[in-house]
Amino acid sequence: MAARLIPGDGIGREVIPAGRRILEALPSSFKLNFSFVNLEAGFGTFQDTGVALPDKTVETLKKECDGALFGAVSSPTKNIPKGYSSPIVALRKRLDLYANVRPVKTVAGAHSPVDLVIVRENTEDLYVKQEETFMGPKGKTARAIKEITEYASLNIARMAGDIALRRQRVRDAGGDSIHKQPLVTITHKSNVLSQTDGLFRESARTALSEEKYQSINVEEQIVDSMFYKLYLKPSHYDVVVAPNLYGDLLSDAAAALVGSLGLVPSANVGKDFAIGEPCHGSAPDIEGKGIANPIATIRSVGLMLEFMGEEKAAAKIYSAVDANLEEGKLLSPDLGGNAKTDEVVEDIIKRL
Ligand code: NAI
Ligand code: MG
Repeated sequence: MAARLIPGDGIGREVIPAGRRILEALPSSFKLNFSFVNLEAGFGTFQDTGVALPDKTVETLKKECDGALFGAVSSPTKNIPKGYSSPIVALRKRLDLYANVRPVKTVAGAHSPVDLVIVRENTEDLYVKQEETFMGPKGKTARAIKEITEYASLNIARMAGDIALRRQRVRDAGGDSIHKQPLVTITHKSNVLSQTDGLFRESARTALSEEKYQSINVEEQIVDSMFYKLYLKPSHYDVVVAPNLYGDLLSDAAAALVGSLGLVPSANVGKDFAIGEPCHGSAPDIEGKGIANPIATIRSVGLMLEFMGEEKAAAKIYSAVDANLEEGKLLSPDLGGNAKTDEVVEDIIKRL
């Protein structure tokens, strides 16, 4: 099998090698023999070559690859050089990875248990990045387009429904969970944005009323009060489906409920391809110190395997990570410990 690694910038270069070590350490009984190739993308690549996402990276991913891992890229927020834009946003679009799936889960015995998945639409909304600046009646004005399609909204809602059903299957098979019934929460702001978010809401409702999803409870939550309720009662939520921007915000916010961005994985998923990606960025404040938490990436390896159909290998990885966290002896500094990235990786490998 072929896995492609795109470390990117900053701590991406520290956590992606950790993900690779986990794949290499999987017991041979899983019969997963990966070959690895590193691919370039990111701000560093842009500075070296003038291109943030080389065509070769996209082509290799399309043709020669079963799964991939993406680290993180740095995107400047000011003095943005001409021609630069975030390669991960472009990559999601060019490979039509229309869903970003972000599970957030506490380990056993947590004081305030959380076990939810945010399913974020990944290709449209304000992230179509059609912005303009012009002189309007009030002077200098900037405007961005928010685009929502019925097509993408139906697709993302079906993905949420399928994930809710899969989570129920795992529970029925004895998997531990705080939920008993599948629940999908549709989040939007259609009280204000009646056309764009209105279309998202309506399409999600339509998709989730299909025969296949009859066993799922479906509810709606306006996005601002969604944040409020998420913090008051996080255990209520099972699967949350959202347009791109709200999903981006909600998933970082949900990460705070489990203590660190360094714990939260994601997968960019298309029809037949998935890229695992930790939710965090390039973390310039801790870059080069060898203390980045590798768990978000290691769990992203698990997600990548799940979407490749290797659910047993994924489960093995999740339980090794949970065991490390539950014991709590080798934790990185973001979790209050003093273990280095490598020490955490070695502890998890021992548990595989
Ligand atoms: P960030 O996620 O890089 O960092 C936020 C905070 O969390 C920092 O204090 C950082 O030290 C901590 N943190 C993040 N990951 C950690 C880990 N694995 N272990 C321990 N601590 C961790 O977000 P920030 O600072 O807003 O952005 C930094 C850069 O990353 C920016 O250039 C931004 O554009 C980029 N970024 C890239 C993303 C991507 O590639 N998908 C996503 C988010 C940000
Ligand atoms: Mg984000």
